[in-house]
Amino acid sequence: MLTSMSTIREVARTVTAHRQHEGAGFIVRRPVPTAGLELVDPFLLIDELGPIEYGPGEAIGAPDHPHRGFETVSYILEGQVFHEDSAGHRGTIGPGDVQLMTAGAGIVHSEMPSPALRDRGGRVHGFQVWVNLPARLKMTRPRYQEVTAARLPVATSADELARVTIIAGEALGARAVIDTHTPIVYQDWTLAPGADVTVDVPADHDALVYVFGGAAQLGAQGRVVRDGQMAILGAGDAVRLRGPDSGEAARLLLLAGRPIREPIARHGPFVMNTRAELVTAVEDFRSGRMGEITRTAARS
Ligand code: FE2
Repeated sequence: MLTSMSTIREVARTVTAHRQHEGAGFIVRRPVPTAGLELVDPFLLIDELGPIEYGPGEAIGAPDHPHRGFETVSYILEGQVFHEDSAGHRGTIGPGDVQLMTAGAGIVHSEMPSPALRDRGGRVHGFQVWVNLPARLKMTRPRYQEVTAARLPVATSADELARVTIIAGEALGARAVIDTHTPIVYQDWTLAPGADVTVDVPADHDALVYVFGGAAQLGAQGRVVRDGQMAILGAGDAVRLRGPDSGEAARLLLLAGRPIREPIARHGPFVMNTRAELVTAVEDFRSGRMGEITRTAARS
């Protein structure tokens, strides 16, 4: 890594996340999509769930609903999500765990607080990112993968001021690969005051930073980006991340991916290339061709 030869990506644009109701009514912070910004190719949606503190019986989720045409990556910081889908997958992901679901040709799933979280209440905080699929893979077979926290590399800078959990991509000599059809970088950074790291990100990727705590300084110019803001980065092959000068550590996601550059037609949980394909998606869901979740009697 010849960092001295790198071109640092500067902030091209910032966007403030808006608050949005999702699922059964829980609130997310959503920087993408937002007015005037349909996607940051290949990222169709970025949702931050919470942080929210639920009392006993209060936690809500997203009951049975379909998807077609993309992949979802869920990353839980606090709380527990119970997943079931029409392809027969089920699993619970907890703090630090990642779940990757390829909706592909179509799936019906539910994303609910675990029974323990529903009964006892507790804190919930996490992210869901939608990664688009190219036309040739939109109707691929659905699949489901879980990566537990223990399998995600964590690395710390030599001065111990920067810490990263690597969900996808490479940083500070550590590397993780989740098997998305579209290559992505997905990293969770904690930057203490004075932290200053430069991370290689492939030049053919689009890159963004979403700050979800404190304030970070981005690019060679040190543009300040605050909690709830997303920065879209310009061209280059490296990203420079700095913590604040003083105060609380900055928290941020670094996301990058190779853009697909195809037409987008989207309607709620379906993302295709054309209007006609959306109409087919709605018809296929309504007529049951995306299946349904088979539940055992024990779970009612
Ligand atoms: Fe979903």
